[in-house]
Amino acid sequence: MTLVIARDAPALAPSRALPEAPRALPDPLLRIAGVSLEYRTPGRVVRAAHRIDLDVYEADRFVLLGPSGCGKSTLLKAVAGFIAPVEGEITLAGVPVRKPGPDRIVVFQEFDQLPPWKTVVENVAFPLRAARGLGRREALERARATIDKVGLTAFAGSYPHQLSGGMKQRVAIARALAMQPKVLLMDEPFAALDALTRRKMQEELLALWDEARMTLLFVTHSIEEALVIGNRVALLSPHPGRVRGEYNCHEFDLSSLGSRTFQAAVQRLHDRLFEPAPEAFAR
Ligand SMILES: Nc1ncnc2c1ncn2[C@@H]1O[C@H](COP(=O)(O)OP(=O)(O)OP(=O)(O)O)[C@@H](O)[C@H]1O
Ligand SMILES: [Mg+2]
Repeated sequence: MTLVIARDAPALAPSRALPEAPRALPDPLLRIAGVSLEYRTPGRVVRAAHRIDLDVYEADRFVLLGPSGCGKSTLLKAVAGFIAPVEGEITLAGVPVRKPGPDRIVVFQEFDQLPPWKTVVENVAFPLRAARGLGRREALERARATIDKVGLTAFAGSYPHQLSGGMKQRVAIARALAMQPKVLLMDEPFAALDALTRRKMQEELLALWDEARMTLLFVTHSIEEALVIGNRVALLSPHPGRVRGEYNCHEFDLSSLGSRTFQAAVQRLHDRLFEPAPEAFAR
């Protein structure tokens, strides 16, 4: 696999299998530069993210890892174009992000993100027609092909309420993948699943990535999940989120779980996450 290795970021595993770093770095696909994000309610301003700098390269599986309330979802919403930064800029392929678009699709944690009155195939095909402008037949063809990829061929005609939580998440992933976004944004997509299903979904996502090489921006507060899914991990501090560190972890996958190196990497990230915050933000 050819992945960009973060230049200044330490590796979380011994570097024996480190791919040779490319001599000339490509431009990042997604650039988050000095971005601060706030929620303004009458009489109150909540700063959710503070001066975030992150570069995500094509085909990265980039993970945002941080404690509850540190601004992960807010940052993802800003990349999706739902929230505008109060300072800094987000660019995708060099173009400033100003509003939502079909080049950035979000998969959420909740199982109710699918319109319940549409069948699986209609759920996947609908945005292809509405946002990508495909004709009915082409949209259905692409929808069926993507549904096959996530193993739901037999359920193409089912309604969301007839599916398990894991199956609904597969549909949500199929719907997002079918759109062929520049960046697939995932906000704790497996957090509400039981441990076994979660493991299976992680495996499937990595298999899909191996095939499609899509660029992923993946949010989690599970250290293990971050190491398994990501090739790079950015650690965010508690509220308001700042980048505390960035790590290369491309060497880990599901087969690493339980190994000594994996446990050591988990411990290292754990210690870093729970370190007292030197950067406490005063406003
Ligand atoms: N709509 C809103 N209005 C005001 N404040 C908000 C709103 N949404 C989030 N916040 C605040 O912004 C901060 C960041 O929230 P966010 O949901 O991005 O965190 P998170 O890292 O995704 O947490 P979790 O892991 O629990 O999902 C929190 O302090 C939260 O209270
Ligand atoms: Mg969140």
